[in-house]
Amino acid sequence: MSQKRTFYITTPIYYVNDKPHIGHAYTTVACDTLARFMRLDGVDVRFLTGTDEHGQKVEKSAAAAGLSPQAFTDKVSQNFRDLAARMKFSNDDFIRTTEPRHEAATQALWKRLEERGHIYLGGYQGWYSVRDEAFFTETELTKGPNGEKLAPTGAPVEWVEEPSYFFRLSAWQEPLLKFYEENPGFIMPTARRNEVLSFVKGGLQDLSISRTSFKWGIPVPGNPDHIMYVWLDALTNYITALGFPDENAVLYREFWPADLHMVGKDILRFHAVYWPAFLMAAGLQPPKRVFAHGWWTNEGQKISKSLGNVIDPYDLIEEFGLDQTRYFLLREVPFGSDGDFSRRAMIQRKNSELANDYGNLCQRVLSMIGKNCGAAVPQPGAFADDDAEMLKQAGDLLGKVRDALADQAFHEALERIWMVIRAANAYIDRQAPWTLRKTDPARMGTVLYVLAETIRRIAILTQPFMPDASAAILDQVAVPADARSFAALERPLTAGTPLPPPQGVFPRHVETEEAPS
Ligand code: MSP
Repeated sequence: MSQKRTFYITTPIYYVNDKPHIGHAYTTVACDTLARFMRLDGVDVRFLTGTDEHGQKVEKSAAAAGLSPQAFTDKVSQNFRDLAARMKFSNDDFIRTTEPRHEAATQALWKRLEERGHIYLGGYQGWYSVRDEAFFTETELTKGPNGEKLAPTGAPVEWVEEPSYFFRLSAWQEPLLKFYEENPGFIMPTARRNEVLSFVKGGLQDLSISRTSFKWGIPVPGNPDHIMYVWLDALTNYITALGFPDENAVLYREFWPADLHMVGKDILRFHAVYWPAFLMAAGLQPPKRVFAHGWWTNEGQKISKSLGNVIDPYDLIEEFGLDQTRYFLLREVPFGSDGDFSRRAMIQRKNSELANDYGNLCQRVLSMIGKNCGAAVPQPGAFADDDAEMLKQAGDLLGKVRDALADQAFHEALERIWMVIRAANAYIDRQAPWTLRKTDPARMGTVLYVLAETIRRIAILTQPFMPDASAAILDQVAVPADARSFAALERPLTAGTPLPPPQGVFPRHVETEEAPS
């Protein structure tokens, strides 16, 4: 058996009731960055995303569009695949819950739960929110402006009374609390963990896991009048994609339990309470971590279709660039907190951090080398203290970025990288190679070598965040394709290697029209 470390990371599967927006892009950018980082770090990665295609919400959207649910989901699911291609997501698989492999896995999980006595038939009476696809108790509800009952998320609720199968969730309160205690890193960030703990400590009610009042879902084995609750169906995707119910499937053996389910804070309860309870009840291992990230607002306002302020990821990429968009999403907010999208902040980061800090560093160094060192990696002389210090800072960077990403602290990882970029800009100003050109050309060669080597290390580390720009920079310092992994960080540039003519990688943002106020 291979000893290679494995890493299984998943995005939520996205509802196909609508086209992709910034929230979907955000979760997947975060996962893609981690997946790329781990691959470069020599880890065997499996990265899964996909679409959640059943349930009342999708059925209603299909009807509104005048299409059959299947035709509708085929169309909308394709939008998510297109976005994945446009954003260069490196997912290894894309699952759709309408695929036969998924129906088989979900029914197998159901049967296991039933055989083990965790499911019983009863009747459900209570409130249901189609938008959340979730049940709520009377006490959880709030009142809207006209006195109407609303889910805690603000979504409308409807009264549901129908026969239903139940999962004995109430029996899992103590086992779950024990599991959380033994696995303190299971729910991140800590504030979210505390919310889940107090929810579970408050007592768990049995969970309704089937519906009879509509048809768009996976039939309950042995009783096709019932279809499965869309969350039981959806959560199972994470094991379907590894070959479940075949627990001997290669992928399942290698990658389950998942290392990280990345989710938004709104769907944490499903992943951190219901999902481990289902799995433990079925005799399967729960995932190792669920990370709940925050929500984006748009210029300070909640994003919603009715306000007409939904941010389309295609528009962002079109206007600001793909790498710039990926950078902004991961840099603007501490991962886990809520964040606000504003054009001003986006333009500010694009211009000052990407164009000025990173872009200018590369441009200044590479054009000096092009003009003064025969367009080849310069020959360094003995390193002075300042040179050694610069190289050490660049050399220490991988460990720092790795530590930050082990906690999903993307913003911190980027800040670490930028500390070195800023240090390199300060070093070039201090050493003034443009003056050395006349006074001490050999010394100029050493300084430019140190800088080119620093740029090489930085660009290797920015690959997971900004794949295209980083590749362009690595091309410009002539790093071969097989020398771009983290193991290759220790293969310094060879003096004399010819370099291509330098080209700007991070353009400044120029306003083409009046910015909307
Ligand atoms: N289908 C379920 C997930 C099932 S996983 C087994 C679902 N889908 S969703 O399409 O509604 O949402 C997917 C993700 O988008 C969630 O993680 C949610 O938090 C995220 N976002 C939706 N709007 C968002 C913002 N405005 N900001 C950040 N993320 C947001 O839930």
